[in-house]
Amino acid sequence: MADDLKRLDDLLAKYGQQHVLAHWGKLNAAQQRALKEQIGLADFSRLDEMHRAIAELKNPPRRDITPAPVVELDIPNFPYAPGREAAAAAKVGEDALLAGEVACLLVAGGQGTRLGFDGPKGCYPVMPLSGMTLFEVFARKLLRVGKVYGKTPPLYVMVSRQNEQATRAFFEKNKFFGLKDADVSFFAQGEMPALDTDGKLILEAPDRLFLGPDGHGGVLSALHKTGMLANMRKRGVAHISYFQVDNLQVPVADTAFLGLHITRRADVSLKVVRKTDPAERVGIFCLDHGKPSVVEYTEFSDEQSRQRAAGGRLAFWAGSIAVHAFSLAFLESLAGRGADLPLHAAFKKVPFIDATGRLVEPASPNAYKFERFVFDTLPLAKTVAALEVARDEQFLPLKNPDGPFGPEGVRNSYQRYWRAAAKLAWRLDPPAIEVDPLWCENAREFIALDPPPPRDASKPLRLPESNK
Ligand code: UTP
Repeated sequence: MADDLKRLDDLLAKYGQQHVLAHWGKLNAAQQRALKEQIGLADFSRLDEMHRAIAELKNPPRRDITPAPVVELDIPNFPYAPGREAAAAAKVGEDALLAGEVACLLVAGGQGTRLGFDGPKGCYPVMPLSGMTLFEVFARKLLRVGKVYGKTPPLYVMVSRQNEQATRAFFEKNKFFGLKDADVSFFAQGEMPALDTDGKLILEAPDRLFLGPDGHGGVLSALHKTGMLANMRKRGVAHISYFQVDNLQVPVADTAFLGLHITRRADVSLKVVRKTDPAERVGIFCLDHGKPSVVEYTEFSDEQSRQRAAGGRLAFWAGSIAVHAFSLAFLESLAGRGADLPLHAAFKKVPFIDATGRLVEPASPNAYKFERFVFDTLPLAKTVAALEVARDEQFLPLKNPDGPFGPEGVRNSYQRYWRAAAKLAWRLDPPAIEVDPLWCENAREFIALDPPPPRDASKPLRLPESNK
């Protein structure tokens, strides 16, 4: 082991990271092996990129921001109508589904720290009456697509080291919620270490470096490295519908959106909602130096956030809701070029092992964590299409333990939307409501389905009533 120690020490010395071995003498053989393996796997060439990301955090590059074109809602009031170009393209989206050319990509590798739920966020029992989990909601949405178009899109689920096992086990225990297990693929995203303010790698245990998931933008290299891009190609997929695990109201394969994406021959498309409060903390779709981009709210000056266009509405109103369509060929070409999305640093609290071998829980931020963002694909695309959608119809993320994006807030907003549908259809206002995602996607469809009024409108209503 003495040779090992010398070799590791030499390697780490090249990068000024010898402190990683500070507790070597106190480790048993298995722990030494584990640490040696971790050091062997670490890609130290990334340190430069990490330092660049820290420099950018401290001194952000100058932006040159102008509003970007968006296909706006045709009818902006409930139950809404999508922009005409997208509505007219819906048939093209339907054809892609009928031809089996669409795959769904669900990113679920995040740690869900804010929510504080013990388990993968997708296992959260979010539905107001049945307690159905987010994963089951998405599975039932997929089954609905299969019911309507004869083909259920394959589902690709990005997980992380921390939640892969629990996520797989949850799907298995629940028999994939009725999906074919051959149509569900899990793949693990990459990881990044953290650096303290002296540029030293953080140890989370005497024998272990801290490693955290590399952000939703890690999806690009993870799809490539795990063979999922090749798998999609083999299955005849051409278009990818991307969504996040926390958005209860997301349509998993929206034909108008896919149609717009395909007819525009876009590499990447995105959905946006209208921001009405200048202070809202949401990334904005705009042009930066003429290139389509999502720019974080933190990078907007107060003046820019409040800027008004002719007609009085906000100039930068298009809030990104992290719903995308990708062309498979575009992702393949990025991955083929070895292009990774840029790395972003964030200054966070990261527990660490100090020089004495003690675990310290810092009271304030102490280290830089690193992530890639999926919307950084936008500036790399030749063509981008953006579609406005109604916030209450399509954007309801579960993020926090309380407040509007906590479980109660989400259940309330969910029920407000569907009660509005019930009111429009029947002039009735049930005290509580839940709609099976396998049955109906949105209020427009609800009204078109023309369901018979409930047997007893004074009771909580689960639709369709024939489910019971
Ligand atoms: P968030 O940015 O909300 O992060 O992720 P999070 O990890 O879920 O929650 P917090 O910030 O710790 O509270 C948005 C989406 O991106 C996925 C999440 O699973 C979620 O669907 N994501 C995020 C990944 O798949 N991998 C990551 O490394 C980060």
